[in-house]
Amino acid sequence: MIPVILSGGSGTRLWPLSRAKKPKQFLPLLNDKSMLQNTLLRVKGLAGLGAPLIICNEDHRFMVAEQLRELAITNPAIVLEPEGRNTAPAIAVAALKAMQQGDDPLLLILAADHAIKDVPAFHQAVELAIPAANQGKLVTFGIVPTSAHTGYGYIRRAGVMDAALPAGVSGVAQFYEKPDATTARQFVDSGEYYWNSGMFLFKASRLLAELQQFAPDIVTAAEQALAKASIDMDFIRLDKAAFSASPSDSIDYALMEKSANAVMVPLDAGWSDVGSWDALWQVMAKDEQGNACRGDVLLEQCHNSYVYAEQRLVTAIGLDDVVVVETKDAVLVAHKSQLQGVKNIVAKLQSYG
Ligand code: GDD
Ligand code: MG
Repeated sequence: MIPVILSGGSGTRLWPLSRAKKPKQFLPLLNDKSMLQNTLLRVKGLAGLGAPLIICNEDHRFMVAEQLRELAITNPAIVLEPEGRNTAPAIAVAALKAMQQGDDPLLLILAADHAIKDVPAFHQAVELAIPAANQGKLVTFGIVPTSAHTGYGYIRRAGVMDAALPAGVSGVAQFYEKPDATTARQFVDSGEYYWNSGMFLFKASRLLAELQQFAPDIVTAAEQALAKASIDMDFIRLDKAAFSASPSDSIDYALMEKSANAVMVPLDAGWSDVGSWDALWQVMAKDEQGNACRGDVLLEQCHNSYVYAEQRLVTAIGLDDVVVVETKDAVLVAHKSQLQGVKNIVAKLQSYG
């Protein structure tokens, strides 16, 4: 089983800490290790684990290599994308690369930016998933939803247990990526849906066969980008023209919504995709007033707030449900209920150049 770590996202909702040069997966947001490092550490101990494959933007190659070196991971495959084309092409390349190594391994696809509190429970879920993946299923890991979040995929578990499936694995009646707010509400109220965690387990050949069926242009581009790739030290640098010709699509839209072979293993392991400052606040340790702080912070009469001080002492009085993030060149102050506005700020900054 090869852990494939998708490390090419931009993480703009965690601005001003997450930047184009150093997106959130490379930051030590939860502890002294980066999110990528935590992801790599989390798989340790799984049976039959091969060397990890990390796929990221070429601009981040030295950061990735350094973070792996810090963990004494000496034999990774680091695949470099000339530009992000979303997760479907990245996964296609990873599957092709894994197939080149001779056999047809299981691929454990992991986002580089998730938090999981209960690692043994995560391992248990992966172990339950292995027999189904070996049967040719595309295994998703489903999370019981706690809100009608529109940034997730939703999975409706099949009502009738399929006797052909291994124990603990359910059929998937529907996979619906990023519904609108009304639909998400209906899904959650029905009690029949899980969130897609964004982690998957499948055989490399099975993934490629299904992508070939539903998104053949992505497979062709991935094949050519890998065939013409150049090896540069430890890095596999995908061919720019070939990879850039790929349609840009996520694995969720390109394949998971369409496949008849999706199955689900429920995951109850304190999972969070740490997609916003509020999500980060939720998974962090807090003081008695519910404040989560990093760095040099002094608070008076503050509640349920997140305060991050990178360069200076940050003091605050009387904040409720507020996020304060201080960095060298930018400060964010936002109410927790308005954090969707962070991406508008980032877009404005980009348009100013
Ligand atoms: N290599 C590479 N290239 N990685 C990428 C790219 C890319 O172009 N785009 C995103 N990634 C990485 C991100 O860094 C992250 O680790 C992972 O792939 C998922 O991408 P996101 O952009 O964060 O996806 P999402 O959060 O909108 O949606 C996915 O995750 C949700 C759970 O967090 C979907 O799978 C949803 O269905 C799911 O609910
Ligand atoms: Mg995400």
